Amino acid sequence: MTDANTEAIEAWDGVLFQKFSRFREVLTTGLGLHGTVALDRLPPVEGARVLDIGCGFGDATVEIARLVGRRGRAVGVDCANNFVEASRETARAAGVDNAEYFSADVQVDDLRGPYDFAFSRFGTMFFASPVAALRNVKRSLAPGASLLMVVWRRREDNPWIHAGELAVKAIIPPVEHGDEPTCGPGPFSMAGADTVSAQLVAAGYEKVRFERHDADICIGKDLEEALAFAKALGPAGEMIRLAAAQGIHETERVDRALRTALSPFVRPAGVFAPSSTWFVSAQSP
Ligand SMILES: C[S@@+](CC[C@H](N)C(=O)[O-])C[C@H]1O[C@@H](n2cnc3c(N)ncnc32)[C@H](O)[C@@H]1O
Repeated sequence: MTDANTEAIEAWDGVLFQKFSRFREVLTTGLGLHGTVALDRLPPVEGARVLDIGCGFGDATVEIARLVGRRGRAVGVDCANNFVEASRETARAAGVDNAEYFSADVQVDDLRGPYDFAFSRFGTMFFASPVAALRNVKRSLAPGASLLMVVWRRREDNPWIHAGELAVKAIIPPVEHGDEPTCGPGPFSMAGADTVSAQLVAAGYEKVRFERHDADICIGKDLEEALAFAKALGPAGEMIRLAAAQGIHETERVDRALRTALSPFVRPAGVFAPSSTWFVSAQSP
């Protein structure tokens, strides 16, 4: 690995891995819904060799392994060794033996292709240099192969995360991130269709398409879990973490504001808030 995403990789393999592990269920079954729908709309064919970019806990790789069948190959890649280890355990527990995982920085490392299909559920928004990363993915693709990325659309259409961000922003002043590692550009860095289509074309892809997908997603089994989730992850969680590193603690006011912001989403079966993604597809010539 080179040092292109060193700081982000440190965050993903450390503080973010710990936080993601705590909310694994919400992330994989709640937010993960977008990936399942995307794979349903634009599935890889049986027998395909598929790369899952930024595979996290490896659950989408397992879904892909089932879609491509025993003649196919599902390969998850993640820059964080902890996620790669967790992914191997996910595949073992699922009894899937055509899923494999390896650790690499997708922006610069050899991705062990060729693949017929590259998929990513929320794994392409954190590269320091998105065009370089997309070009590196393309290098691993066979001619005519497809790319399918699920990325968040603009924050205003994602109250599941933006409501908490606005509530925290009103209390905690903007802080520099100092020496704390951060996740990289962030969850909304691919929200702009014009920017992303330009990045894909610059990286050598063609036939770029965007499909908007809106869904209410579960962000906690109850208000307490949704509150804990908002405080730990996403822009609100990042603001709280970075402020705490500088000695700024506003726990009571933040809790009160977040409770107010999240209460409208409480239902009998859990906390469900609106969310919106792009299914971005493209082809390698
Ligand atoms: C928001 S998580 C999504 C994980 C998973 N795809 C999911 O939907 O649950 C982003 C993932 O991308 C990985 N990632 C970030 N930058 C990366 C890079 N440069 N190369 C490989 N993986 C990266 C992180 O370690 C993390 O697992």
